[in-house]
Amino acid sequence: MFRRFDAGEGEALADFLAGEPWPFHTGSQVDRADVLERAAQGFYDETYWILADGERAGIVRLFDLEDATPMFDLRISESHRGKGLGQAAVRWLTDRLFGEFAHVERIEGTTRQDNAAMRQVFRRCGYVKEAHYRKAWPDAAGHRHDSVGYAIIRHDWQTGDTTVPDFHDE
Ligand SMILES: CC(C)(COP(=O)(O)OP(=O)(O)OC[C@H]1O[C@@H](n2cnc3c(N)ncnc32)[C@H](O)[C@@H]1OP(=O)(O)O)[C@@H](O)C(=O)NCCC(=O)NCCS
Repeated sequence: MFRRFDAGEGEALADFLAGEPWPFHTGSQVDRADVLERAAQGFYDETYWILADGERAGIVRLFDLEDATPMFDLRISESHRGKGLGQAAVRWLTDRLFGEFAHVERIEGTTRQDNAAMRQVFRRCGYVKEAHYRKAWPDAAGHRHDSVGYAIIRHDWQTGDTTVPDFHDE
């Protein structure tokens, strides 16, 4: 279901990313040439295809892997959404990062406040809301949205607990 992006697949990745808009990403229209250039520079070295019946349905790119808090970018093509692939991908990357990298203590992700599907994916996968950034996310039209940050900590991954942040400490 998950297959590592191969350096020779730059064209396929460019087709995938530039093939449809990503309204919840800054720069919602991806430029093909940018993808090809970045692929040649190794930007997608830790990127995995999400396959559905052998078809390229999405990608997940892991980054900041050397940090105690790696992050990821997840995109499922519109025709494959709502079938559980997003949750499967987040569970897979969470198991992989905690299972294979002993220095990883937390995994973090940020999304736009109105990205209800992604927020549900975070919650379903044991991630907890830690941050709320007001007017932090400008869209293509210049409108500024709030953004929200979720994370899972190693302890919760290991035990199944849900550790809630100590918000009311003032
Ligand atoms: C966000 C995204 C990765 C989710 O992937 P997906 O494969 O559609 O997700 P899943 O099918 O695993 O789960 C989606 C969940 O959100 C829920 N959901 C979907 N749209 C929703 C909405 N508008 N309001 C509330 N819940 C919604 C679904 O019901 C499902 O929850 P459930 O299992 O409890 O029923 C995918 O929609 C996507 O790639 N979007 C565009 C790119 C993007 O926003 N990436 C994240 C950037 S941080």
